[in-house]
Amino acid sequence: MLTPKARGALSDALFEALRSTAVSWDHVLGTEPDHDDDAQIALWTLYELHYRGFDDVDDTLEWQPEALHLRRALEQPFEARLRERYDAPDLTAPFADSFFDYVASHDGRSLASFVQRGANAEQVRELLSVRTIYHLKESDPSAWLVPRLTVEPQAALMELQYDEYGAGDPNRLHAHLFARGLEACGLSSEYGAYIDDVPCEVLEQNNAMSLFGLHRRLRGAALGHLAAFEATSSLPSRRMVQGLDRLGFPAEMIAYYEEHVEADAVHEQLAVRVVCGSLLDAEPALTDDVYFGAFTCLDLEDRFAGAMLEAWTAA
Ligand SMILES: [Fe+2]
Ligand SMILES: [Fe+2]
Repeated sequence: MLTPKARGALSDALFEALRSTAVSWDHVLGTEPDHDDDAQIALWTLYELHYRGFDDVDDTLEWQPEALHLRRALEQPFEARLRERYDAPDLTAPFADSFFDYVASHDGRSLASFVQRGANAEQVRELLSVRTIYHLKESDPSAWLVPRLTVEPQAALMELQYDEYGAGDPNRLHAHLFARGLEACGLSSEYGAYIDDVPCEVLEQNNAMSLFGLHRRLRGAALGHLAAFEATSSLPSRRMVQGLDRLGFPAEMIAYYEEHVEADAVHEQLAVRVVCGSLLDAEPALTDDVYFGAFTCLDLEDRFAGAMLEAWTAA
């Protein structure tokens, strides 16, 4: 992948510095983002240095002190904004019951319901293309968590991840199933191919996962995010299957969502009861962060769904 298109003064200065070792980082660090979109594309690009990198950026820049300095300067207001939005739960019931109730009461607008009943094929293709930013590296942000956990949550997370990564079979790897679905639809399966088209809400969703995954202090939020994601995936995946089938989409794309109907019905129990449950048995002080991560997952998905539905209504 190549560096994306700049969305403002900060991303413009940053991408120049990443592509050319001749450019001074002082200029980058002295530039303020023009708006959220500019800040989020800059942060997304800095995070990608830790995943697969860019063909036009030297790999050594992953640990460039100025790049890390800027990453921190962008992460701080982003995390503060996510925490400001967070709606803390009333904790009375045992953890798993309380968590499932919390997720059910904060589940927002649903793109899968729209795909199931009302979307046209062009809207679904647009949705699939913006979802590539997440689905083509589905479980990678959770993989950072593995070395940061004690025995029980670590074993449970690995059980879940083993499934996500195909249980030893590359053809079952979830991100690869999605890539095959894209190709069958005539869409690009290259990672980052649609990054210039995605709205700010998609960047925020992906940046929140990297933020939680890359900071050990946020391991509770990362696992709460994962648990909320799994707990809101099986039913929407069934709706996606019905919508894609209604519109005559290829079997390969339907297979990706079919896989998640069953897998995530199991994963939600594993993620909530065992991964988060055993994490909180060992580290009860992380309870609030687990809910913060869950809220962020649901809230960002609701905002993304809202942005897509409003844009389609306006069009
Ligand atoms: Fe998956
Ligand atoms: Fe899953």
